[in-house]
Amino acid sequence: MKRAKLTVIGAGNVGASCAFWAAAKELGDIVLIDIPTFADKTAGKALDLAQCGPVERFDCKITGTSDYAAAEGSDVVIITAGIPRKPGMSRDDLVATNVKIVASVSEQIAAAAPDAVLIVVSNPLDAMVYTAWKKTGFPPNRVVGQAGCLDIARYRTFIAMELGCSVEDISALLMGGHGDDMVPLPRYTSVSGIPVTQLIAKDKLDAIIKRTTMGGGELVKLMGTSAYYAPAAGTIQMAEAIIKDKKRILPCAAFCDSEYGVGGYFVGVPCMLGAGGVEKIIEVEFDEGERDMFANSVAHVKDLVALADKSL
Ligand code: NAI
Ligand code: 2OP
Repeated sequence: MKRAKLTVIGAGNVGASCAFWAAAKELGDIVLIDIPTFADKTAGKALDLAQCGPVERFDCKITGTSDYAAAEGSDVVIITAGIPRKPGMSRDDLVATNVKIVASVSEQIAAAAPDAVLIVVSNPLDAMVYTAWKKTGFPPNRVVGQAGCLDIARYRTFIAMELGCSVEDISALLMGGHGDDMVPLPRYTSVSGIPVTQLIAKDKLDAIIKRTTMGGGELVKLMGTSAYYAPAAGTIQMAEAIIKDKKRILPCAAFCDSEYGVGGYFVGVPCMLGAGGVEKIIEVEFDEGERDMFANSVAHVKDLVALADKSL
Protein backbone atom coordinates (compact mmCIF):
# COMPACT_ATOMS: atom_id res chain seq x y z
CA MET A 1 0.00 0.00 0.00
CA LYS A 2 1.27 3.51 -0.86
CA ARG A 3 2.24 5.52 2.21
CA ALA A 4 0.36 8.76 2.59
CA LYS A 5 2.34 12.00 2.52
CA LEU A 6 1.56 15.17 4.38
CA THR A 7 3.35 18.51 3.99
CA VAL A 8 3.09 21.31 6.53
CA ILE A 9 4.13 24.81 5.45
CA GLY A 10 5.29 26.96 8.36
CA ALA A 11 7.22 25.08 11.05
CA GLY A 12 6.29 27.44 13.89
CA ASN A 13 4.02 26.69 16.83
CA VAL A 14 1.01 25.44 14.86
CA GLY A 15 2.99 23.80 12.04
CA ALA A 16 5.34 21.88 14.33
CA SER A 17 2.36 20.81 16.49
CA CYS A 18 0.58 19.56 13.34
CA ALA A 19 3.63 17.46 12.49
CA PHE A 20 3.65 16.16 16.07
CA TRP A 21 -0.01 15.03 16.03
CA ALA A 22 0.35 13.58 12.51
CA ALA A 23 3.39 11.55 13.56
CA ALA A 24 1.71 10.37 16.75
CA LYS A 25 -1.18 9.11 14.62
CA GLU A 26 1.26 7.64 12.07
CA LEU A 27 -0.67 9.30 9.24
CA GLY A 28 2.21 8.94 6.76
CA ASP A 29 5.46 10.61 5.79
CA ILE A 30 5.72 14.22 6.89
CA VAL A 31 7.49 17.20 5.31
CA LEU A 32 7.92 20.46 7.23
CA ILE A 33 8.74 23.55 5.15
CA ASP A 34 9.69 27.01 6.40
CA ILE A 35 11.64 29.96 4.98
CA PRO A 36 15.35 29.50 4.04
CA THR A 37 16.47 31.54 7.11
CA PHE A 38 14.96 28.79 9.30
CA ALA A 39 16.07 25.82 7.17
CA ASP A 40 18.37 24.42 9.89
CA LYS A 41 15.81 24.98 12.64
CA THR A 42 13.16 23.25 10.52
CA ALA A 43 15.47 20.31 9.80
CA GLY A 44 16.18 20.16 13.54
CA LYS A 45 12.49 20.05 14.48
CA ALA A 46 11.94 17.24 11.97
CA LEU A 47 14.89 15.25 13.31
CA ASP A 48 13.82 15.78 16.93
CA LEU A 49 10.31 14.56 16.08
CA ALA A 50 11.63 11.57 14.11
CA GLN A 51 13.56 10.54 17.22
CA CYS A 52 10.23 10.14 19.08
CA GLY A 53 9.40 7.28 16.71
CA PRO A 54 11.23 4.50 18.59
CA VAL A 55 9.61 5.57 21.87
CA GLU A 56 6.11 6.34 20.64
CA ARG A 57 6.22 3.55 18.05
CA PHE A 58 5.52 5.34 14.80
CA ASP A 59 7.24 4.75 11.49
CA CYS A 60 7.14 8.03 9.60
CA LYS A 61 9.81 9.60 7.45
CA ILE A 62 10.00 13.20 8.70
CA THR A 63 11.86 15.87 6.72
CA GLY A 64 12.44 19.55 7.49
CA THR A 65 13.51 21.86 4.67
CA SER A 66 12.91 25.13 2.82
CA ASP A 67 12.74 23.37 -0.55
CA TYR A 68 9.21 22.97 -1.93
CA ALA A 69 10.38 20.11 -4.17
CA ALA A 70 10.11 17.97 -1.01
CA ALA A 71 6.31 18.45 -1.10
CA GLU A 72 6.00 16.54 -4.39
CA GLY A 73 3.37 13.81 -4.27
CA SER A 74 1.73 15.08 -1.07
CA ASP A 75 -1.82 13.91 -0.43
CA VAL A 76 -2.47 16.77 1.97
CA VAL A 77 -0.72 20.12 2.34
CA ILE A 78 -1.37 22.27 5.40
CA ILE A 79 -0.61 26.00 5.35
CA THR A 80 0.28 27.48 8.74
CA ALA A 81 2.73 30.07 7.41
CA GLY A 82 2.19 33.62 8.61
CA ILE A 83 2.28 35.78 11.70
CA PRO A 84 0.10 35.02 14.73
CA ARG A 85 -1.75 37.52 16.94
CA LYS A 86 -0.10 39.38 19.80
CA PRO A 87 -2.18 40.62 22.75
CA GLY A 88 -4.47 43.46 21.67
CA MET A 89 -4.59 42.34 18.02
CA SER A 90 -7.60 40.86 16.28
CA ARG A 91 -7.24 38.12 13.68
CA ASP A 92 -8.19 40.74 11.08
CA ASP A 93 -5.09 42.81 11.92
CA LEU A 94 -3.01 40.04 10.31
CA VAL A 95 -4.49 40.31 6.84
CA ALA A 96 -1.99 42.69 5.18
CA THR A 97 1.05 40.59 6.16
CA ASN A 98 -0.42 37.13 5.83
CA VAL A 99 -2.15 37.60 2.48
CA LYS A 100 1.26 38.07 0.86
CA ILE A 101 2.76 35.07 2.65
CA VAL A 102 -0.18 32.78 1.86
CA ALA A 103 -0.29 33.93 -1.77
CA SER A 104 3.40 33.16 -2.28
CA VAL A 105 3.22 29.82 -0.44
CA SER A 106 0.12 28.79 -2.43
CA GLU A 107 1.80 29.38 -5.77
CA GLN A 108 4.71 27.21 -4.74
CA ILE A 109 2.41 24.45 -3.52
CA ALA A 110 0.43 24.50 -6.76
CA ALA A 111 3.69 23.87 -8.64
CA ALA A 112 5.08 21.23 -6.26
CA ALA A 113 1.96 19.29 -5.21
CA PRO A 114 -0.76 19.97 -7.78
CA ASP A 115 -2.94 17.03 -6.71
CA ALA A 116 -2.99 17.68 -2.97
CA VAL A 117 -5.93 18.61 -0.80
CA LEU A 118 -5.03 21.92 0.85
CA ILE A 119 -5.93 22.72 4.45
CA VAL A 120 -5.43 26.38 5.32
CA VAL A 121 -4.87 27.45 8.93
CA SER A 122 -3.22 30.90 8.66
CA ASN A 123 -5.31 33.83 9.87
CA PRO A 124 -7.54 35.60 9.24
CA LEU A 125 -8.70 32.15 8.24
CA ASP A 126 -11.67 32.88 6.02
CA ALA A 127 -9.71 35.35 3.89
CA MET A 128 -6.57 33.19 3.78
CA VAL A 129 -8.42 30.11 2.54
CA TYR A 130 -9.91 32.28 -0.21
CA THR A 131 -6.40 33.57 -1.05
CA ALA A 132 -5.03 30.03 -1.26
CA TRP A 133 -7.91 28.98 -3.52
CA LYS A 134 -7.29 31.94 -5.86
CA LYS A 135 -3.54 31.43 -5.98
CA THR A 136 -3.44 27.64 -6.38
CA GLY A 137 -6.29 27.52 -8.90
CA PHE A 138 -7.30 24.23 -7.23
CA PRO A 139 -10.95 23.17 -7.52
CA PRO A 140 -12.85 24.44 -4.44
CA ASN A 141 -13.42 20.94 -3.04
CA ARG A 142 -9.63 20.57 -2.68
CA VAL A 143 -9.23 23.76 -0.63
CA VAL A 144 -10.60 23.89 2.89
CA GLY A 145 -9.99 25.97 6.01
CA GLN A 146 -9.54 24.83 9.60
CA ALA A 147 -11.38 26.83 12.22
CA GLY A 148 -14.55 24.96 13.14
CA CYS A 149 -12.75 21.85 14.42
CA LEU A 150 -10.89 24.09 16.88
CA ASP A 151 -13.82 26.31 17.83
CA ILE A 152 -16.08 23.33 18.38
CA ALA A 153 -13.41 21.61 20.47
CA ARG A 154 -13.36 24.68 22.72
CA TYR A 155 -17.16 24.69 22.92
CA ARG A 156 -17.24 20.95 23.77
CA THR A 157 -14.49 21.42 26.38
CA PHE A 158 -16.40 24.21 28.16
CA ILE A 159 -19.66 22.21 28.14
CA ALA A 160 -17.90 19.16 29.59
CA MET A 161 -16.26 21.37 32.24
CA GLU A 162 -19.68 22.73 33.23
CA LEU A 163 -21.30 19.29 33.40
CA GLY A 164 -18.32 17.46 34.83
CA CYS A 165 -18.76 14.80 32.16
CA SER A 166 -16.51 13.34 29.46
CA VAL A 167 -15.71 15.62 26.52
CA GLU A 168 -16.20 12.59 24.30
CA ASP A 169 -19.94 12.64 24.91
CA ILE A 170 -20.49 16.20 23.71
CA SER A 171 -21.63 16.51 20.10
CA ALA A 172 -22.03 20.02 18.76
CA LEU A 173 -22.30 22.25 15.72
CA LEU A 174 -20.72 25.64 15.14
CA MET A 175 -20.84 27.62 11.92
CA GLY A 176 -19.86 30.90 10.24
CA GLY A 177 -16.48 32.62 10.09
CA HIS A 178 -13.51 32.24 12.45
CA GLY A 179 -14.16 35.56 14.17
CA ASP A 180 -15.73 36.60 17.43
CA ASP A 181 -19.05 36.50 15.53
CA MET A 182 -18.81 32.71 14.90
CA VAL A 183 -22.11 30.92 15.52
CA PRO A 184 -22.24 28.07 18.06
CA LEU A 185 -25.63 26.36 17.75
CA PRO A 186 -27.07 25.06 21.04
CA ARG A 187 -30.10 23.64 19.19
CA TYR A 188 -27.68 21.28 17.47
CA THR A 189 -25.65 20.47 20.59
CA SER A 190 -26.25 17.34 22.62
CA VAL A 191 -24.70 15.21 25.36
CA SER A 192 -25.02 11.56 24.38
CA GLY A 193 -28.17 12.51 22.48
CA ILE A 194 -29.69 14.65 25.26
CA PRO A 195 -30.21 18.27 24.08
CA VAL A 196 -27.75 20.48 25.96
CA THR A 197 -30.55 22.97 26.62
CA GLN A 198 -32.10 20.36 28.98
CA LEU A 199 -28.86 20.04 30.96
CA ILE A 200 -27.46 23.57 31.24
CA ALA A 201 -29.46 26.67 32.20
CA LYS A 202 -29.70 29.39 29.54
CA ASP A 203 -27.54 31.96 31.37
CA LYS A 204 -24.75 29.41 31.86
CA LEU A 205 -24.98 28.21 28.26
CA ASP A 206 -24.86 31.82 27.03
CA ALA A 207 -21.68 32.32 29.05
CA ILE A 208 -20.16 29.17 27.52
CA ILE A 209 -21.03 30.39 24.04
CA LYS A 210 -19.48 33.80 24.76
CA ARG A 211 -16.30 32.15 26.09
CA THR A 212 -16.15 29.94 22.99
CA THR A 213 -16.45 32.85 20.57
CA MET A 214 -13.69 34.70 22.46
CA GLY A 215 -11.67 31.51 22.99
CA GLY A 216 -8.76 32.50 20.76
CA GLY A 217 -8.38 35.86 22.52
CA GLU A 218 -8.43 34.21 25.95
CA LEU A 219 -5.36 32.17 24.98
CA VAL A 220 -3.55 35.10 23.34
CA LYS A 221 -3.89 37.00 26.63
CA LEU A 222 -2.57 34.06 28.63
CA MET A 223 0.29 33.05 26.34
CA GLY A 224 1.29 36.27 24.54
CA THR A 225 0.83 34.48 21.23
CA SER A 226 -2.00 32.44 19.77
CA ALA A 227 -2.91 28.87 20.59
CA TYR A 228 -1.27 25.91 18.87
CA TYR A 229 -1.92 22.50 20.44
CA ALA A 230 -5.69 22.49 19.88
CA PRO A 231 -5.52 24.29 16.50
CA ALA A 232 -3.08 21.62 15.34
CA ALA A 233 -5.22 18.79 16.76
CA GLY A 234 -8.24 20.16 14.85
CA THR A 235 -6.19 20.42 11.67
CA ILE A 236 -4.90 16.87 11.93
CA GLN A 237 -8.45 15.63 12.60
CA MET A 238 -9.26 17.01 9.14
CA ALA A 239 -6.07 15.64 7.55
CA GLU A 240 -6.80 12.19 8.97
CA ALA A 241 -10.35 12.24 7.56
CA ILE A 242 -8.92 13.04 4.13
CA ILE A 243 -5.95 10.66 4.18
CA LYS A 244 -8.06 7.74 5.46
CA ASP A 245 -11.10 8.70 3.34
CA LYS A 246 -13.19 8.56 6.49
CA LYS A 247 -16.18 10.64 5.26
CA ARG A 248 -16.23 12.44 8.60
CA ILE A 249 -18.76 15.23 9.09
CA LEU A 250 -16.75 18.14 10.47
CA PRO A 251 -17.25 21.90 10.62
CA CYS A 252 -14.85 23.35 8.03
CA ALA A 253 -14.44 26.55 6.05
CA ALA A 254 -15.69 25.29 2.68
CA PHE A 255 -16.56 27.04 -0.56
CA CYS A 256 -20.26 27.86 -0.47
CA ASP A 257 -21.93 29.22 -3.56
CA SER A 258 -25.64 28.38 -3.67
CA GLU A 259 -25.22 26.61 -0.30
CA TYR A 260 -26.77 28.76 2.43
CA GLY A 261 -27.06 31.50 -0.24
CA VAL A 262 -23.46 32.55 0.51
CA GLY A 263 -22.50 33.36 -3.10
CA GLY A 264 -18.93 32.15 -3.56
CA TYR A 265 -17.06 32.48 -0.24
CA PHE A 266 -15.40 30.07 2.20
CA VAL A 267 -17.34 29.91 5.46
CA GLY A 268 -17.70 27.41 8.28
CA VAL A 269 -20.34 24.79 7.52
CA PRO A 270 -20.73 21.07 8.24
CA CYS A 271 -18.86 19.13 5.55
CA MET A 272 -18.17 15.54 4.64
CA LEU A 273 -14.39 15.14 4.42
CA GLY A 274 -12.85 12.27 2.48
CA ALA A 275 -10.16 11.54 -0.09
CA GLY A 276 -11.72 14.09 -2.44
CA GLY A 277 -11.47 16.85 0.16
CA VAL A 278 -14.84 18.47 0.79
CA GLU A 279 -17.12 15.82 -0.69
CA LYS A 280 -20.41 17.28 0.51
CA ILE A 281 -21.73 20.36 2.30
CA ILE A 282 -24.64 19.70 4.60
CA GLU A 283 -27.34 22.35 4.82
CA VAL A 284 -29.04 22.49 8.20
CA GLU A 285 -32.23 24.36 9.02
CA PHE A 286 -31.91 27.66 10.87
CA ASP A 287 -34.47 29.45 13.00
CA GLU A 288 -34.70 33.21 12.52
CA GLY A 289 -32.12 34.11 15.18
CA GLU A 290 -29.61 31.57 13.87
CA ARG A 291 -30.12 32.81 10.31
CA ASP A 292 -29.39 36.40 11.38
CA MET A 293 -26.25 35.43 13.30
CA PHE A 294 -24.97 33.36 10.36
CA ALA A 295 -25.70 36.22 7.92
CA ASN A 296 -23.82 38.64 10.20
CA SER A 297 -20.82 36.32 10.35
CA VAL A 298 -20.84 35.80 6.56
CA ALA A 299 -20.99 39.58 6.02
CA HIS A 300 -17.80 39.90 8.11
CA VAL A 301 -16.13 37.17 6.01
CA LYS A 302 -17.03 39.09 2.84
CA ASP A 303 -15.48 42.31 4.22
CA LEU A 304 -12.29 40.45 5.07
CA VAL A 305 -12.08 38.86 1.63
CA ALA A 306 -12.53 42.29 0.02
CA LEU A 307 -9.61 43.53 2.14
CA ALA A 308 -7.44 40.55 1.13
CA ASP A 309 -8.44 40.90 -2.53
CA LYS A 310 -6.95 44.40 -2.63
CA SER A 311 -3.49 42.89 -1.97
CA LEU A 312 -3.82 39.99 -4.40
P1 NAI B 1 4.50 31.03 14.35
O1 NAI B 1 5.07 32.41 14.24
O2 NAI B 1 4.89 30.19 15.50
O3 NAI B 1 4.84 30.21 13.02
C1 NAI B 1 4.63 30.72 11.74
C2 NAI B 1 5.73 30.17 10.87
O4 NAI B 1 5.45 30.56 9.52
C3 NAI B 1 7.12 30.71 11.22
O5 NAI B 1 7.99 29.63 11.49
C4 NAI B 1 7.53 31.47 9.99
O6 NAI B 1 8.91 31.46 9.70
C5 NAI B 1 6.72 30.73 8.90
N1 NAI B 1 6.63 31.49 7.65
C6 NAI B 1 6.46 32.82 7.47
N2 NAI B 1 6.46 33.09 6.17
C7 NAI B 1 6.65 31.93 5.50
C8 NAI B 1 6.75 31.59 4.14
N3 NAI B 1 6.66 32.51 3.17
N4 NAI B 1 6.93 30.28 3.82
C9 NAI B 1 7.00 29.34 4.78
N5 NAI B 1 6.91 29.63 6.09
C10 NAI B 1 6.73 30.90 6.45
O7 NAI B 1 2.92 31.20 14.27
P2 NAI B 1 1.83 30.10 14.68
O8 NAI B 1 1.45 30.29 16.08
O9 NAI B 1 2.30 28.78 14.21
O10 NAI B 1 0.57 30.58 13.78
C11 NAI B 1 0.63 30.45 12.37
C12 NAI B 1 -0.65 31.02 11.76
O11 NAI B 1 -1.77 30.21 12.11
C13 NAI B 1 -1.00 32.44 12.24
O12 NAI B 1 -1.47 33.20 11.16
C14 NAI B 1 -2.10 32.20 13.25
O13 NAI B 1 -2.93 33.32 13.42
C15 NAI B 1 -2.83 31.05 12.60
N6 NAI B 1 -3.67 30.28 13.50
C16 NAI B 1 -4.88 29.88 13.01
C17 NAI B 1 -5.72 29.10 13.74
C18 NAI B 1 -7.01 28.61 13.18
O14 NAI B 1 -7.78 28.00 13.91
N7 NAI B 1 -7.29 28.81 11.90
C19 NAI B 1 -5.37 28.73 15.12
C20 NAI B 1 -4.06 29.14 15.54
C21 NAI B 1 -3.25 29.92 14.74
C1 2OP C 1 -7.37 30.82 17.66
O1 2OP C 1 -8.60 30.87 17.61
C2 2OP C 1 -5.54 32.21 16.81
O2 2OP C 1 -7.33 31.70 15.44
C3 2OP C 1 -6.57 31.25 16.47
O3 2OP C 1 -6.76 30.41 18.66
